[in-house]
Amino acid sequence: MKSFVNLNKGRTPRQAHVDLDGLKDDELGRGGFSGRAAQLYRRNDPTKYRVEGDYRLRNLNGNKLSPADMDDPRGLPLALFENADCRVSISRRREPMPMYARNAAGDESFFVHRGTGSFETEFGTIVYEPGDYVIIPKATTYRVVPRTDDNFFLICETVDELIVADFGVFGRHAPFDPTLITTPEPQVLASDGRDEWEVLVRHGDDTSSLFYAHNPCDVEGWKGDLFPFKFNIRDWNVIMSDTLHLPPSVHNFMTADGVILCHFLPRPAEGRAGVERVPYYHRNADYDELILYHGGTFLGQELPTGLIAHSPQGIHHGAPEELRELARATHDEIDRVDWQMISIDTRRPLRPTRALRDYEQRKAAEKNSK
Ligand SMILES: [Fe+2]
Repeated sequence: MKSFVNLNKGRTPRQAHVDLDGLKDDELGRGGFSGRAAQLYRRNDPTKYRVEGDYRLRNLNGNKLSPADMDDPRGLPLALFENADCRVSISRRREPMPMYARNAAGDESFFVHRGTGSFETEFGTIVYEPGDYVIIPKATTYRVVPRTDDNFFLICETVDELIVADFGVFGRHAPFDPTLITTPEPQVLASDGRDEWEVLVRHGDDTSSLFYAHNPCDVEGWKGDLFPFKFNIRDWNVIMSDTLHLPPSVHNFMTADGVILCHFLPRPAEGRAGVERVPYYHRNADYDELILYHGGTFLGQELPTGLIAHSPQGIHHGAPEELRELARATHDEIDRVDWQMISIDTRRPLRPTRALRDYEQRKAAEKNSK
């Protein structure tokens, strides 16, 4: 809910996020970035605090995680966070899945951080490369066939149907031309001589298997408006302003009930003098934020590729003050933002999974034993 009442008290800049004059710009907002919001102009950096307890920012180096599917072709991705609406996992699959999979618990979005290969689906084959989102609708039969050895997918499963966001006033071809998605062509896949074909069905936290005497990817043709597809981030047209750093919600890609997929991609930097180019300090009152650093640079510095950062709702996060100072100091020399970050925002708090807690405990024990 937005209110027509907007107050301005004490020392504030004329325009939010511009000409801060030494103040620390801190947003407390409802409904993600679409509800009531307050900018709090502070003297001190609100991310400078000490933590006791488990409700905190988490930074995970995805390059160091070893999901079961990395070494075992029958292994499954590693679930990191979950809530009643979604589950976030990573997959590092090296070998083709010997079985097909079917997720009866929800839709799946695979973001390809590294690797090439294909998804064999009953609709046909989707060839993937880095930067692709591969969207697999709930209950579709598919298997992943990597071509490369070093692969890294960020997977978001959603209980509700994952649909393209409402781009409202942006028109038909922004932020992306919908004809630039890639859809599979029907293809009857040949048998490779095996006696039966397994389809591993995930339902809730359990799995069951269906066995067919034929390859289940045997569709001669299909029509309709429900199908898997892929979209590459290079075809995204970033919505931006020269005079204001716009909120993450202008970069929404797909949504499901309680879940938003968005991304922050290369674009010109805000040009007007005095505009803050670094996102303000933030407490998202109603959404958790999770970001995968896919690649690129910011202010000439390489991003920590493969890092997965989780900011729970109600907890301050934001770039350090030194980076903000650097952005101001380099305003005249730097004219582009080249970051590539993939984001998942969730209405309900994301809980670290048992597997993630076990991993963190192992890492802490290793550190203590050194
Ligand atoms: Fe945020």
